[in-house]
Amino acid sequence: MSESKHSHRVCPWWLGYFLATPLRRFLQNPRTILKPWVSEGAMVIEPGPGMGFFTLELARLVGPRGRVVALDIQPKMLSALKRRARRKGLLGRIDVRLVKPESMGLTDIKGRADLVFAFAIVHELPRVEEFFREVYEALKAGGKLFISEPHPRVSEEDFAGTVRLAEAAGFKENARPAIPRSRSVLMARGD
Ligand SMILES: C[S@@+](CC[C@H](N)C(=O)[O-])C[C@H]1O[C@@H](n2cnc3c(N)ncnc32)[C@H](O)[C@@H]1O
Repeated sequence: MSESKHSHRVCPWWLGYFLATPLRRFLQNPRTILKPWVSEGAMVIEPGPGMGFFTLELARLVGPRGRVVALDIQPKMLSALKRRARRKGLLGRIDVRLVKPESMGLTDIKGRADLVFAFAIVHELPRVEEFFREVYEALKAGGKLFISEPHPRVSEEDFAGTVRLAEAAGFKENARPAIPRSRSVLMARGD
């Protein structure tokens, strides 16, 4: 898949409320999905967190010594995420950043992140190759990249194209986690 094949259609902010509903846990349980890959004290980058369906669980799993860097382009997503995190007493573990669509602006994290958790965002990005380059640089050696895309919205062919772009940036495939209504892959920095 070339970058031009992406629709870049960004999920509208009000859909964030549906994505963050507790009912979604019956289909995609954040703890079950995240637990195998997130350790205490870790630094996790979460591009496109929306209103924080996964962010709160990430913050619980990294614990008080860890950090979650949540990057979104929509202020309304981020203000709802902050509200929810504050209510749960987890905001202190989350670095909430408003970013531009073309760049995650991760230069300050260079080589320090343990995991990039990209759930239902890659198909919305205008520059996928640049995204993989940026997150590769932000990860430490052997750091992990988790990509999950909505099924059937993202076809098998397009998902294979996404995996190829990640490989071209230097990532190697590790596993194919089974998550309902999604196509998912766990990759690692190839060094
Ligand atoms: C479909 S939602 C998924 C939200 C969340 N990951 C989840 O699974 O509940 C996609 C999110 O990515 C954000 N997004 C889209 N393009 C982005 C970009 N270039 N940089 C950062 N975030 C972006 C949207 O604003 C939205 O919050």
